[in-house]
Amino acid sequence: MSTHAPQPNRPASAPSSPASAPGSPQQPRVLILGAAGQLGVELQRSFAGHAEVAALDRHGLDLSAEQQIRDVVRRASPQVILNASAYTAVDRAETEPDLAMAINGHAPRVLAEEALRLNALLVHYSTDYVFDGNKQGPWTETDTPHPLSVYGATKLAGEEAIRAVGGRSLIFRTSWVYAPHGKNFLLTMLRLGRERDRLSIVDDQLGAPTTASELAQATHSIVSGILAGQFGPPEDWAGLYHMTCAGSTTWYGFAQAIFQRAAQLLHQPIPELVPIPSSQYPTPARRPQNSVLSNALLAERFGLRLAPWPVALDATLAATLDSALAELSQKATE
Ligand SMILES: NC(=O)c1ccc[n+]([C@@H]2O[C@H](COP(=O)([O-])OP(=O)(O)OC[C@H]3O[C@@H](n4cnc5c(N)ncnc54)[C@H](OP(=O)(O)O)[C@@H]3O)[C@@H](O)[C@H]2O)c1
Repeated sequence: MSTHAPQPNRPASAPSSPASAPGSPQQPRVLILGAAGQLGVELQRSFAGHAEVAALDRHGLDLSAEQQIRDVVRRASPQVILNASAYTAVDRAETEPDLAMAINGHAPRVLAEEALRLNALLVHYSTDYVFDGNKQGPWTETDTPHPLSVYGATKLAGEEAIRAVGGRSLIFRTSWVYAPHGKNFLLTMLRLGRERDRLSIVDDQLGAPTTASELAQATHSIVSGILAGQFGPPEDWAGLYHMTCAGSTTWYGFAQAIFQRAAQLLHQPIPELVPIPSSQYPTPARRPQNSVLSNALLAERFGLRLAPWPVALDATLAATLDSALAELSQKATE
């Protein structure tokens, strides 16, 4: 990921914030939902300059309001809808199942119906938490989901709803998403590392940390290829794909890598890290033990692989440092 990527558009409250010359004939109209989230911000970076982008956060479109979704999408009339919004509070979803289902399960169906009506391409994201984790080796797209949590169940409902509607849609299942901004494990570790000298981290859940930037760049590359006719008709490419950074680790392994690199890049002291089993860190929602996803289908169909997770971590830490420095220099000039 470039550390000198253009600044993302500010999320708009109406679908009218072109990132490039409006109306230029070769640029597709792209509607990005969830514009303030980790992935939403990175999608804006990746599509800026290549599309006429309208980016909406929850103030621009509340995905729990069905009619609002239909009105906004019809008004924007996009050729591509990128749905980066979701109810992502995995533990809170256990006590807010209806809201989680409205955003993760029902809104994707409405988006798919509206996309079909416009013949637009819908790109939606789902999660490794649709699986129960009881498999040796990486999960494939044909493995049977069995979510352990309300979040996982609602995300699975969203996948199924989109597939039932059909049309020109792509669902990318990903995992352990993080970015230089937003709420994520990387930023939590960096903060806790400054506050404490000893951290206990779960070491019996296996997954693939994936940067929002890698996801956004891969999405841009695939969407561009589809619009250019590179991948053939929709029956050749529409469907569900796993999309994560390459390799896998545990949360403990991820934390070790973060602090080793942070010590060099951010000159931050390294706390003592203690590996613990999930049983010593009970959470309201259960997580799968092995949620590593096979990316073979993505590579086969689109000829594309995301970076190995340690490489993507380096890039995101560098970007984190860049934004921290930018913040400091802005404060200095205030
Ligand atoms: N984060 C992960 O570890 C992870 C792992 C696997 C898959 N995924 C999937 O990857 C995708 C992107 O995740 P992310 O990490 O970028 O999530 P995120 O940072 O939590 O962003 C989600 C965005 O959705 C917005 N949103 C929530 N409720 C909404 C509503 N009612 N109407 C409109 N917008 C609403 C949120 O707005 P507010 O900021 O205002 O709440 C937030 O900006 C999601 O589909 C997620 O399920 C994420």
